[in-house]
Amino acid sequence: MVDIMKSQTPIIEIDNLIVSFGEGDDARRAVDGVSFSVLAGETFGLVGESGSGKSTILRAITGLVPSTATTLRVMGEDVSRERGKDFYRKVQMVFQDPYEALHPRHTVWRQLMEPARIQKVPDAETRAKASLDAVGLPQALRWRYPHQLSGGQRQRVAIARALMLKPEILLLDEPTSALDVSVQAEILNLLCDLQEEHGLTFLMVTHDLGVVAHMCNRTAVMQSGKLVETLPVDVLVNGGATEPYTRKLIAASEAYGEAPASLSQLTKV
Ligand SMILES: Nc1ncnc2c1ncn2[C@@H]1O[C@H](COP(=O)(O)OP(=O)(O)OP(=O)(O)O)[C@@H](O)[C@H]1O
Ligand SMILES: [Mg+2]
Repeated sequence: MVDIMKSQTPIIEIDNLIVSFGEGDDARRAVDGVSFSVLAGETFGLVGESGSGKSTILRAITGLVPSTATTLRVMGEDVSRERGKDFYRKVQMVFQDPYEALHPRHTVWRQLMEPARIQKVPDAETRAKASLDAVGLPQALRWRYPHQLSGGQRQRVAIARALMLKPEILLLDEPTSALDVSVQAEILNLLCDLQEEHGLTFLMVTHDLGVVAHMCNRTAVMQSGKLVETLPVDVLVNGGATEPYTRKLIAASEAYGEAPASLSQLTKV
């Protein structure tokens, strides 16, 4: 985790983001006027109950769902209406379930080469090999299909694929919640290492306040499409959250304060 005091440059700027689903009387705001900024190099968490709009925020940033906003800027560029090819190189998403995110009938190698082909990356093969190394996967695994890999290996492939285009921002949607607890720690440590090595910025959705405590510099707390509060993680850890909803969330979180052994083994950063 970087010292965010060193970096005060906002890399994602969101003001009054609104996402509605449904028409007429059925219309419902899944994201209702959310504002926050993510600083370059930090890990910013998004926590909150199921259905509070966390994934929808990530989807709105990437344009997977239509949204409106007073400001929606990524790396200084207005992306509220359209995103250039460069956006899809610099901003990559990693999903909760790597099995769903990967193409079932493509080998690991092809999963890695596909984004490079679309973006016409010249040194794709060299990069694919380097990406496998970066996520700690042996090169021999590259001819396997997703069903021939463990859950942790699949998530490593998904992360390796995200790295292929040398991104600056990773949008992580519960990247470890589908994994076994011991594997969760491995993947979170890997993400920390990659962040340090490549100077990445993470916007990370998680249910797990233990993960927030270990990974994030700051976190936003969501409830029913609204942002309840944004607070530095040391304040959260030291019981300084003031909003009743945040306090309730902390009380409800089993992981908080009694993180499983494998999570406490995470590199304290
Ligand atoms: N494509 C869609 N069409 C209609 N409603 C949707 C769509 N996507 C999400 N929603 C609704 O928007 C709300 C927010 O969903 P979202 O997936 O962002 O929640 P979340 O905070 O990520 O929850 P979880 O922790 O369970 O993943 C939910 O009520 C959901 O049912
Ligand atoms: Mg979600």
